[in-house]
Amino acid sequence: MKATASAHSNIALVKYWGKRDEASILPWTGSLSMTLDALAVATTVAFDDGDADRVEINGVDLKGAARQRVVDTLDLVRAEAGFARRARVLSRSDFPTGAGLASSAAGGAALAAAASWAAGLDPAPEALSILARRNSGSACRSIHGGFSEWVPGERPDGTDSFAVPLFDERHWPELRMIAAIGDTAEKAVSSREGMRRTVTTSPFYEAWRGVSARDLVECRGAIEARDLTRLGEIAERNAWRMHAAALGAEPPLRYFTATTLTILDGMQALRKQGREVYFTLDAGPNPILLCLASDVADVTAFLESLRIPRWVVSGPGRGVERSEAPLF
Ligand code: PMV
Repeated sequence: MKATASAHSNIALVKYWGKRDEASILPWTGSLSMTLDALAVATTVAFDDGDADRVEINGVDLKGAARQRVVDTLDLVRAEAGFARRARVLSRSDFPTGAGLASSAAGGAALAAAASWAAGLDPAPEALSILARRNSGSACRSIHGGFSEWVPGERPDGTDSFAVPLFDERHWPELRMIAAIGDTAEKAVSSREGMRRTVTTSPFYEAWRGVSARDLVECRGAIEARDLTRLGEIAERNAWRMHAAALGAEPPLRYFTATTLTILDGMQALRKQGREVYFTLDAGPNPILLCLASDVADVTAFLESLRIPRWVVSGPGRGVERSEAPLF
């Protein structure tokens, strides 16, 4: 009763921001992301005769709410499998958590898969996506490789709210996302709290819901046509719109920092010199730059010139997979 899964982060090009149901993690709007071939999480789950669930992430024993989130996913799997055995969970990521790099997405997808497989279940992709969603919303998209879309659904029970694959990782192999890691501090306000505050207090939230549906349709078309110029325009405006809605909350939510803006200003200058480079920004300070593989060297030289300490270059990656290398 042991299995290991590996999953990759995904970065949304059209963002998920705001829940219609907090408990089941059901969004108000659809979202669309690229799964990355870097930024991986591996998770091993073993059900055994222990008297409590033990959860370790990156060498730290989880406690409190963070542990409970993992236990909740294990409980869903136990209910489905019809047993009560406790589990040992060990997870390792190769990137900083909580800095807007969607660590929770890779973690949620790897946990959902490893726990299901360890319990002897073999859920269909929709069911696996729903299980990952209930751990961390954006995790539902990391089940699929390439480009995937989280369909928000309408049912109160969430059975129609899961990610569907749009184009696999071979569709646009030249596309790159470069996470510019200028800041590795944990963010002050989690996405969960940030969304809640935006939905309940921002006068701009209604507007966000309206425009993001249109962005989604256009984004699908830009990816299908492999049109970076169009995709860049859509991704940038969608990210700003999400942050605009968040800035309108009470108290306001500002996830970007001076370093973020320095990178974005420099990127604009690079663009004026003819480099096609665009950005998106999650609920954290680290922008993700979009470009083609042929421009990566110039973009990373630019980050180096700004003394950004670390960056991670990713192409479109594979979805969640079974691994034959258990962590214990
Ligand atoms: O799934 P969460 O709770 O980590 O929220 C993710 C929210 C954003 O990263 C800002 C947007 C997105 O669609 O991934």
